[in-house]
Amino acid sequence: MTPERGGPEASGSGRAHGKAILMGEHAVVYGFPAIALPLLTVTVDATVQLSTDADWLDCAYYRGPLAKAPSELGGLRLLIEESRRALGSPSRGTTVHIDSMIPPEYGLGSSAAVAVAIVRAMYDLFHQTLAAKELASLVHVAEVHAHGSPSGIDAWAASVDSALWFVPGQPPDPLPLSRPLFLVVAGSDTPGNTRDAVRRVKESQARFGVGAGPIARIGELTRAARPALVRGDYGFLGALMTEAHRELNALHVATDHLNRLVSTALRDGALGAKLTGGGGGGSMMALAADGSQQMQLAEALRRAGARQVWTPVVGGS
Ligand code: MEV
Repeated sequence: MTPERGGPEASGSGRAHGKAILMGEHAVVYGFPAIALPLLTVTVDATVQLSTDADWLDCAYYRGPLAKAPSELGGLRLLIEESRRALGSPSRGTTVHIDSMIPPEYGLGSSAAVAVAIVRAMYDLFHQTLAAKELASLVHVAEVHAHGSPSGIDAWAASVDSALWFVPGQPPDPLPLSRPLFLVVAGSDTPGNTRDAVRRVKESQARFGVGAGPIARIGELTRAARPALVRGDYGFLGALMTEAHRELNALHVATDHLNRLVSTALRDGALGAKLTGGGGGGSMMALAADGSQQMQLAEALRRAGARQVWTPVVGGS
């Protein structure tokens, strides 16, 4: 390995994307499967350079020495140290610049995507190839700091370009879709903190015990969703999504505004709708029958107070 190749003025760049969890959030923390979708047009770009100074971060929320960054960004310090170690780089300052389209705390995988983009940029700087598993395990370091006990799904979803079937502890299976999936993803009126939501679910779930209650039911719904997604049976898939939203409500991770956005989408003819990601605020998603209904739903959700609306089309092209 020639870690210093390129010299201090060289820079590396990396990109990652946001994700939306179609089915299985929260249950996946308890070992059940989940399905994640890539948001390929909602991206994070990172560039890194080596310098003789201390580690430095430049992003929309903070500009300055990484050692003095707010504690929420502490995972990035660990991530950069781990990446340097994995690359065999002597301890030198790293300057990191982040340019992100993903709003943090909206359930769209912002923290994992930032981490994926940084690791890719570090490996690019050193001209090293990066195996998918190695990337996931490096990103996990930052995700543990951000979320406490992450299932690992966000790290994979931010780095793979297809729909994914994910079971904790295993590399995910890419899911080929037979036809396009027209989605509307809408940010609600408040951000949601995944760490808090996971803690709240732990408390709710304690009442039901292992293998029962909303978590187990979400696991069943997710298993039923896999063949519906792959076959293109989107009417059935939508019904499963709406039922999953009811179970997530039973776990107390929906909010009034998320429920209102879900009801709006269903009233306007969505095939299904649910919150996506950690909840407690954050985002919801609706499944549209086609591109024109997708645009109508996006408009209806904007009118219902969605903070931001995305209209991804996943797979099938
Ligand atoms: C967050 O995107 C999904 C959760 O299931 C947490 C996790 O899997 O780490 C809520």
